[in-house]
Amino acid sequence: MNATEQLELKVKPNAGVQLRDGFTGGLGVVLATLGSAVGLGNIWKFPYLTGANGGAAFLIVYLLSTLLVGLPVMISEHMLGREARSEAVHAFLKLSPNKKIPWWLVGASGVLAAFMIMAFYTEVAGWVFAYIFKALGGGIFTTDPAVTEAAFVNLISNPWLSLGIQWVVLAAIGLIILQGVAKGIEKTAKRVMPVLFGLLLIVVVRSLTLDGAAAGLNFLFMPDFSKLTGAAILTAMGLAFFKLSIGMGTMITYGSYYGSEQNIPVNAARVMLGDLLVSLLAGLAIFPAVFAYGVEPDAGPSLLFITIPTVFASMPFGHFFMVVFFLLTSLAAVGAMLSLVEVPVAFLTEKFTWSRKTATLVVVFGLAVTGSLAALSNSVLADVKLLGFTFFDLFDYFSQNVLLPVGGLFIALFVGWVFGWKKVEQALTNRGALKNTRLVRLFFLVTRFVTPVLVLLVLLNGFGVFGK
Ligand code: TRP
Repeated sequence: MNATEQLELKVKPNAGVQLRDGFTGGLGVVLATLGSAVGLGNIWKFPYLTGANGGAAFLIVYLLSTLLVGLPVMISEHMLGREARSEAVHAFLKLSPNKKIPWWLVGASGVLAAFMIMAFYTEVAGWVFAYIFKALGGGIFTTDPAVTEAAFVNLISNPWLSLGIQWVVLAAIGLIILQGVAKGIEKTAKRVMPVLFGLLLIVVVRSLTLDGAAAGLNFLFMPDFSKLTGAAILTAMGLAFFKLSIGMGTMITYGSYYGSEQNIPVNAARVMLGDLLVSLLAGLAIFPAVFAYGVEPDAGPSLLFITIPTVFASMPFGHFFMVVFFLLTSLAAVGAMLSLVEVPVAFLTEKFTWSRKTATLVVVFGLAVTGSLAALSNSVLADVKLLGFTFFDLFDYFSQNVLLPVGGLFIALFVGWVFGWKKVEQALTNRGALKNTRLVRLFFLVTRFVTPVLVLLVLLNGFGVFGK
């Protein structure tokens, strides 16, 4: 201990006890966790996947997955993290009774998933960021999809520009992560989330008040189950994982920053509902407008970048709403990226007792290297394919549809069959302080029997094991 630290100990009697950084409490916990859940998943993925998979029927499967898989896994992760007071790898090392079974692999696959997701996520965040300026400058303010397409292709096929925007995003996220959990992650979420919400509401009101908005509502809320393939069901479940930032230990890491008085099930339910609300609002911002101008919502990943600008360009005061839209989307991406970077940073600080600074630097440089594979997927590396995917698509597909669900499956199995009822009851009732035993029992039964079976069936079905 050096002199200043000794001094701090004298001044702050608790400083020695509370060595671990963490969330400060109440609202901060919900907003920081919600900040992780809300992101490009809500505003980019959710609309384009719902649009490409037929609308309401996909939404229903997504809702069921959120409830029966998403919520139980999120509660499980928060619980494991808080019990162990460790990030995912060390949480499993500490909590697993039989050290011969390598449960820590679940945490390790999470570190891998964080790198894969960040690789493409930072790139898409970079596009969104660039689009704020494109929208401001008016270059994409046109109703001609050929023009918006050319603008998008220009951006993504320029290798240096693609790398450059990714580095800007990485540097910004790294700087926030350096400030720590309470002063970086939590403080940012507290500032960003209310603004994001307000801006989103503005766009929703605009979209819903357009002539012909009703067709968009029909699409979003009137199910047509004929479009629902096994692959679409897997996609909906994978999206539920991606949306709630679960299945890779992000929520274990965040749970380790929770105070012992936090009501974990209630908090997780709030985060789930908040995230769902933001997704639905994004749907209400996009589909009514898309249908009002007779555009098809099935463009896939480019929906946000090629279709949406033409929709804004068609509407009254569209220029303003387009800027607001891309601004709110980039804000949404921030909290999600913080939580993704926090996973390897927390792992490295715990594993090698590195300082936060060293760990952050190493992770950001690592991400710049692996991220470049995704950033260059539309230019220099466009022809490099693994299993028919570019790096960008491979990272996206493999993390969402394989790593996260498989991670979630093992997390549920661990809680339901290894950690066991007694410990779960202790942990989630806050050692008897909360009178929620019935609810905890319901959670336990679902996590033990329903969640793992559902995840397994959807995975097998998605990969065509039961026939196409
Ligand atoms: N949930 C975020 C989104 O919707 C993405 C995300 C952040 C994530 N952290 C994660 C996804 C951890 C999976 C795992 O944009």
